[in-house]
Amino acid sequence: MGTYFYRLRQKTREIGLANLIRAGASGLVNRALRLIYRFDPWHVSGTYFSRPYKAKVVDMINARKPDCVVEIGTGLGDLIGRVSSAKTFGFDLDPAVLKAARWLLPRTSVLAPGNFQEPDGIIATLKQHNVRQIDCLVLVNWIHMIDFDTIERSIERIDRACPIRSILMDSIKAGADGYRFHHSEIEMKTLGRIVQTRDGDETRTLVMIERGP
Ligand SMILES: C[S@@+](CC[C@H](N)C(=O)[O-])C[C@H]1O[C@@H](n2cnc3c(N)ncnc32)[C@H](O)[C@@H]1O
Repeated sequence: MGTYFYRLRQKTREIGLANLIRAGASGLVNRALRLIYRFDPWHVSGTYFSRPYKAKVVDMINARKPDCVVEIGTGLGDLIGRVSSAKTFGFDLDPAVLKAARWLLPRTSVLAPGNFQEPDGIIATLKQHNVRQIDCLVLVNWIHMIDFDTIERSIERIDRACPIRSILMDSIKAGADGYRFHHSEIEMKTLGRIVQTRDGDETRTLVMIERGP
């Protein structure tokens, strides 16, 4: 019980009381959706309000005033659902989490199953919706599971079909344990020009990469 209150106090310090209350309410909705759709438990507690990196990601994307944003690994759509853009696409490996996300996102957001490592399905969906250019491709809070050669390969394949103007991804900080890959800024430079970095939270740095001439 003592540990519970200690952690609650720490979290209140980190995100503030208002966000703690919003995170609790959002967690309850996610819990109810999970009873129906049985998606990964991470999504229940990892809400927009409890994870400060999420608002920063949304700000970084919106600052670019994009017309088309594509998020791969979208989960419940916490990020894509808050982006101001005419066209928004959320792809995920897990069809169950997408069914739940459908309840939370506007109908205008396209949600579809898709695997980053085998992007043909993602490309087909984008073509089906006449996407000619991706203004921002978002790969956040799972890309640390994928080796960089695979990341480069998949991005090149998507880019050949629908040119990508910028990529927002996270790099795991040195010293953060339990992550398969950290993805340094040196590696990220092979994808384009780093135009912005921002501290996401204690484990991640958010990196905006611009591509093109
Ligand atoms: C921790 S959640 C993060 C969700 C969202 N990006 C956010 O930050 O709120 C990671 C999501 O990525 C998805 N995912 C993992 N590997 C993937 C892949 N290779 N292709 C597409 N989605 C993937 C998982 O199914 C999960 O829903």
